[in-house]
Amino acid sequence: MNTETTNQGATPDPTPFERLGGEAAVRALVDRFYDLMDLEPAYATLRALHPAVLDGSRDKLHWFLCGWLGGPSHYTDRFGHPMLRARHLPYRIGTEERDQWMACMVQAMQEQGVDEALAQPLARALYGTADWMRNV
Ligand code: HEM
Repeated sequence: MNTETTNQGATPDPTPFERLGGEAAVRALVDRFYDLMDLEPAYATLRALHPAVLDGSRDKLHWFLCGWLGGPSHYTDRFGHPMLRARHLPYRIGTEERDQWMACMVQAMQEQGVDEALAQPLARALYGTADWMRNV
């Protein structure tokens, strides 16, 4: 058996959370995501769905992504099962909103210098979640 590919007895592969740089790096990514949402006219439709003050949104997405990336389960510790689709039902989310969310997140990853080898699979997985949020 090839231990290089099975990783038997070796240190476990790092999680995406660890590869990204841990909790501070996730927070920095989320902060850049919401800063861009505030700043960039291209994300105005997405911004308009959110509260005037984004502090609560920043905390929630940070807590959620820590767990989603394989790190600490801050979100579920506080709120239980995320039920993300149900929690997004009050907001009109179509392809435009989905695409703005994705473009904003991809730009934030680029600006935070997330390695392409990590950013690409993350973007693909996030797209699946973002597309699942569509309700119109
Ligand atoms: C598809 C486009 C999306 C739109 C338009 C959207 C919009 C929103 C809005 C308006 C809120 C409420 C803001 C607030 O509670 O402060 C929210 C909450 C949230 N969103 Fe999204 N979102 C999208 C995709 C996503 C994706 C892909 C994720 C996860 C990867 C996500 C994670 C969350 C979380 C964790 C919350 C907080 C839920 C709660 O506890 O109330 N969203 N989103």
